[in-house]
Amino acid sequence: CIGRGAGTSSYLGWISRVRVNQPAVLRRAEQLQTRRTVKKDWQAAWLLRAVTCIDLTTLSGDDTPSNVHRLCFKAKHPIRDDLLKCLNMHDKGEGITTGAVCVYPSRVPDAVKALKAANCTIPVASVATGFPAGQTPLKTRLEEVRGAVADGATEIDIVINRTLALTGQWQALYNEITQFREACGEVHMKTILGTGELGSLSNVYKASLVAMMAGSDFIKTSTGKEGVNATFPVALVMVRAIRDYYWKTGSKVGFKPAGGIHTAKDALAWLSLMKEELGDEWLKPELFRLGASTLLGDIERQIYHHVTGRYAAHHDLPMA
Ligand SMILES: *[C@@H]1O[C@H](CO)[C@@H](O)[C@H](O)[C@H]1NC(C)=O
Ligand SMILES: *[C@@H]1O[C@H](CO)[C@@H](O)[C@H](O)[C@H]1NC(C)=O
Ligand SMILES: *[C@@H]1O[C@H](CO)[C@@H](O)[C@H](O)[C@H]1NC(C)=O
Repeated sequence: CIGRGAGTSSYLGWISRVRVNQPAVLRRAEQLQTRRTVKKDWQAAWLLRAVTCIDLTTLSGDDTPSNVHRLCFKAKHPIRDDLLKCLNMHDKGEGITTGAVCVYPSRVPDAVKALKAANCTIPVASVATGFPAGQTPLKTRLEEVRGAVADGATEIDIVINRTLALTGQWQALYNEITQFREACGEVHMKTILGTGELGSLSNVYKASLVAMMAGSDFIKTSTGKEGVNATFPVALVMVRAIRDYYWKTGSKVGFKPAGGIHTAKDALAWLSLMKEELGDEWLKPELFRLGASTLLGDIERQIYHHVTGRYAAHHDLPMA
């Protein structure tokens, strides 16, 4: 089953004993990144798979109801029907959609409304808890989560207090995430570690474990606003934590890299990392998401090229 974290701190002792072998991680990350990813014949299918795992995101200060509306439309129709037809994919149920749309809390009602009007059940994810820095009082962050849930968000992306992780206050971090878990109620919670600010790979591993123990459904690398985005060494440490946690507890927690993921080639590399490290089960939107805003455009261009043998002119694939 896809379990919610064990919801227990009884494993916190485990954390203090953890050491990450950094040279080994860097070697393995290099190996995964330089390997030729997917055979040409399989590429279109893999790219469609990647599309279904995208959290199509807009997080701009100037987001408006109308650009959220366009985002939702794009999430429902990520790839042109005629291209899907050429790939024999146009009659697959509701069709191919992205995994979710992801917006600021204040834009949740717009997204819910747009998707409802489109008769579409794509999840609405919202970043909350003072995204991206998390520098608002706990009370405010909890209210923000409850508000987004009340407005109809079905997934909440929270950010952790990086200071707690940097200074090794694991019990305090656990307690804080547990409160977010409660505020989320039944909706899915993705916990953003802000790995660019955690100092070491050991801290990344420990923060991953704590986030899972406290009931996260997903752990996510970055807000996309730190100085460093999702990197392979960090990802490797996080997915190993997911694997170790699964072996220890039987709970499956998802993984979401985010920040700086722009190209179809990037998406394929991320999928193959998941396949190699966690297996096919973690290639589904229930357990894998790519946080991205511009990735979809490049994937659509690559699929267009696959189908037609030429590259799309701008007017062929107008972006949402
Ligand atoms: C909404 O979708 C459902 C299931 O896909 C379909 O049965 C129904 O007719 C649709 N309703 C509208 C108003 O499009
Ligand atoms: C984060 O944790 C640190 C260390 O305990 C604390 O001083 C700080 O106030 C916390 N930040 C927020 C926004 O609660
Ligand atoms: C991280 O990703 C964001 C969003 O894609 C991008 O705007 C930013 O320039 C990236 N930062 C770095 C350091 O690569």
